[in-house]
Amino acid sequence: MNLQVEMWKRAAAEEAARLVRDKMVVGLGSGTTVAEVIRAIAKLRPQATFVPSSSATQRLASDLGLKLSSLNIHHKLDLMLDGADEVDPNFDMIKGRGGAHTREKIVAGAAKRVVIIIDRSKLVQKLGERSPVPVEVLAFAHEYTMRKLAELGGESRLRMAASGAPFVTDDGNYIVDTTFRSILKPAELEQKINRVPGVVENGIFVGVADEVFVGYEGGCVRLKSKRDFLKFTHGKV
Ligand code: A5P
Repeated sequence: MNLQVEMWKRAAAEEAARLVRDKMVVGLGSGTTVAEVIRAIAKLRPQATFVPSSSATQRLASDLGLKLSSLNIHHKLDLMLDGADEVDPNFDMIKGRGGAHTREKIVAGAAKRVVIIIDRSKLVQKLGERSPVPVEVLAFAHEYTMRKLAELGGESRLRMAASGAPFVTDDGNYIVDTTFRSILKPAELEQKINRVPGVVENGIFVGVADEVFVGYEGGCVRLKSKRDFLKFTHGKV
């Protein structure tokens, strides 16, 4: 584990946790950054309600005493806090290294404001620079689905768990990590992948993030626009 990256991540997570106010209903994504956010929220003890997007997030939040609900009870959320694997200058993202992107996309869609929390290593000029696109697929015909993804120019690998068996999502599906040589039109690719038979949802998120909190050596910077992104990545913050 890179200690510096962990510190950057924590700085951004602590800042994001302060957005939570009493009486808010807040969606929680998944992953190691969100775990930091949850720990920071638990210390602040706000009287808010939380909608988790994965069983891991649900367990941690419940262990730390946060009040939980679900989208079936709360259809509208004030805020969603989540991590990402890559964020580009338009705030388009790749998510799903934890395999929870399907639920995260649903929860984010219900939120008035989506705040993404990352460390600076995840800022990219073009999606796909450092991560494959995670695609949740039905186990039933996953090899067929992988072949169809190849027709879109993607090279897919079935994600395996530490046990040596295929990784299985909270909803009982497989993940295929699909590498595209270059992602020029993220919105188009997101739609094309989702039209492949057997695909449940993919990890390209377009037009979802409202704001990005970035942990870096100076603490945390809040990016609200493409201009902020470009200023920060050109070292002008
Ligand atoms: C979970 O499936 C993902 O979408 C995560 O939000 C993303 O992979 C970031 O995870 P980390 O915070 O662990 O890097």
